[in-house]
Amino acid sequence: MKKELIELRVNGRAHELAIEPSALLLDVLRQELQLTGSKRGCDDSSCGACTVLVDGVAMMSCTLLAASCEGQEITTVEGVSEHGALAAIQKAYGDWGGAQCGFCTPGFMMTVKSLLAENPDPSEGEVRAALSSNLCRCTGYSQMYDAIRSAVEVERKGLAAAK
Ligand code: FES
Ligand code: FES
Repeated sequence: MKKELIELRVNGRAHELAIEPSALLLDVLRQELQLTGSKRGCDDSSCGACTVLVDGVAMMSCTLLAASCEGQEITTVEGVSEHGALAAIQKAYGDWGGAQCGFCTPGFMMTVKSLLAENPDPSEGEVRAALSSNLCRCTGYSQMYDAIRSAVEVERKGLAAAK
């Protein structure tokens, strides 16, 4: 198939890429840009391991055409840190042992990041509803929820201090 030249903005940097029009964002991120944090964990949009932010909204990159993302800002787990420092959600995962395996954690983290950007003070129910698009097939979720609660607290304090 004939390749097209597109420009993708990923983690704050512009990339000019020659890709097939049918190329999926997940494959372009992993194979063209070597951003391998986003994973393919299923074949039917059911696991969320491939979740990235597109203009701040959590999207499954395994079902998104890369070409459709031109002009939008894509953020992968590699771009979550803020000015070289861990983001609140990354620090909380470390502090609370919230990280699960390398397959599911990046997707969970991106979904939480999107949720907190939209709603810095989500209820437990809102957190659980947001995370229903992400799956861990092998362990419990309790430490991850503890980490998220801690990150929410940090966001809440940050908001209060900014007032
Ligand atoms: S790899 Fe995208 S939802 Fe599973
Ligand atoms: S899929 Fe990652 S810990 Fe279960």
